[in-house]
Amino acid sequence: FVPKVLAGRRLLITAGPTFEAIDPVRGITNLSSGRMGYAIARAARQAGAEVTLVSGPVALAAPPGVERIDVRSALDMHAAVMARATTADIFIAVAAVADYRVANAAEHKLKKDHGGVPAIELVENPDILAEVAALADGPFCVGFAAESQNLEAYAQAKRHKKKIPLIVGNLIQDGFGGDDNRLVLFDDQGSHPLTPASKSALATQLVDHIAKLTGSH
Ligand code: PMT
Repeated sequence: FVPKVLAGRRLLITAGPTFEAIDPVRGITNLSSGRMGYAIARAARQAGAEVTLVSGPVALAAPPGVERIDVRSALDMHAAVMARATTADIFIAVAAVADYRVANAAEHKLKKDHGGVPAIELVENPDILAEVAALADGPFCVGFAAESQNLEAYAQAKRHKKKIPLIVGNLIQDGFGGDDNRLVLFDDQGSHPLTPASKSALATQLVDHIAKLTGSH
């Protein structure tokens, strides 16, 4: 039996990496597996939420009862999220979104024997979470921060910069890929370290915390 702490709430969530094309077959991406975001989508659905999962390219099946929208690049993810953000009650940004995309992506496959080493020019991607957080009548926003050091300082700085009530910190060595994680929740009340556990057990605890902060139960 799972308590329906998010009954009737509409949850929008991003997960996985983005893929920024260099040419039709090559690109820039990262090692996010999607497991953390998918576990939260599943836990929220089990807690009674109506869940839409905007997913970068991952090798996972959508959890039962969850609407999944597949995207590839940060711009695709941005468009899919912004089209749905105003009708969501809660937005959780778990995706590891590329900060930059390739400005000069090639229409055809780059050939090795043409003019030496290619130069890849980068341009900044939109910050999806910050944009949703800035919406006048937007959802309750939850961010994630994956850091290799100084977890509290860096996570809190992101929370304040993006103007969000809750950010979930994890260390890269604990969280990227794999089935387990160690999470610390940072909100206006301070920091709440969760006992290291499986991503699915942590997802349930995070959903409970969000339900409390949003007054859902
Ligand atoms: O997928 P797994 O293998 O299970 O790994 C999970 C995870 C480690 C990827 C996940 O737990 C995590 O920490 N995700 C956030 C990764 C990160 O460091 O994000 P960031 O610091 O680049 O961004 C901070 C926040 O802004 C995140 O909520 C991110 O989704 C969001 N963001 C960032 C950039 C951007 N252009 N748009 C965004 O919405």
